[in-house]
Amino acid sequence: MSVANIEYHVVRSADEAAYKQFMTDLFAEGLAVLPDRGMGPTDEQWTEFFKRRRSDHSVLFIAEHEGRLIGGGGVGRIEQPNREHSVSLALNVSKEYRNQGIGRMLLRHTLRWTSVTPAIERIELEVTANNPGAIHLYQAAGFSVEGIKRGALKKGDLVLDIVQMAIVGSSVRSPKL
Ligand SMILES: CC(C)(COP(=O)(O)OP(=O)(O)OC[C@H]1O[C@@H](n2cnc3c(N)ncnc32)[C@H](O)[C@@H]1OP(=O)(O)O)[C@@H](O)C(=O)NCCC(=O)NCCS
Repeated sequence: MSVANIEYHVVRSADEAAYKQFMTDLFAEGLAVLPDRGMGPTDEQWTEFFKRRRSDHSVLFIAEHEGRLIGGGGVGRIEQPNREHSVSLALNVSKEYRNQGIGRMLLRHTLRWTSVTPAIERIELEVTANNPGAIHLYQAAGFSVEGIKRGALKKGDLVLDIVQMAIVGSSVRSPKL
């Protein structure tokens, strides 16, 4: 199933407030597949986040439906010595719009962008093991499982494994989606 008239584009300054609200709403759901947010980013951290997402090695695509921001996906460069060839991927869709192909489209836009960004040689992500829909999507996009961090997340009584996945090397240049 897919929703018609969804617009996908790189985040603009005018989208920033809506994106912050989107993330606030997402964490307010208290999903078992996401870590708790704690205090959330400060204004300075948000400013830095958007600045970085507009750099040469990082990007954030958003999905809009009838003027409402309903999804975001992209990659951020890992700002550590000797790891700058790697980016970390994040992907989220608003509750009412899930399982309608929007995550797949955001992933497609992101992976096509990384495929033509020569500095990126590795795309990595972490997903909780209790998120089969997300894992299915990442595998369809060519991500391989690299490891399992056993019992890495504890949410109250819920103890979760974290699955580490990545696309590496020449596979970055030929996205499967
Ligand atoms: C994960 C998420 C980003 C995916 O976006 P989405 O728009 O719902 O995903 P899509 O509709 O494009 O694709 C979902 C796929 O998972 C499949 N799927 C859904 N539930 C599944 C399940 N229980 N087991 C296996 N596959 C499942 C769907 O069939 C679909 O695959 P298909 O296109 O081959 O049929 C979205 O669901 C979301 O934001 N979830 C909450 C936050 C989250 O989990 N973020 C990711 C953290 S790593």
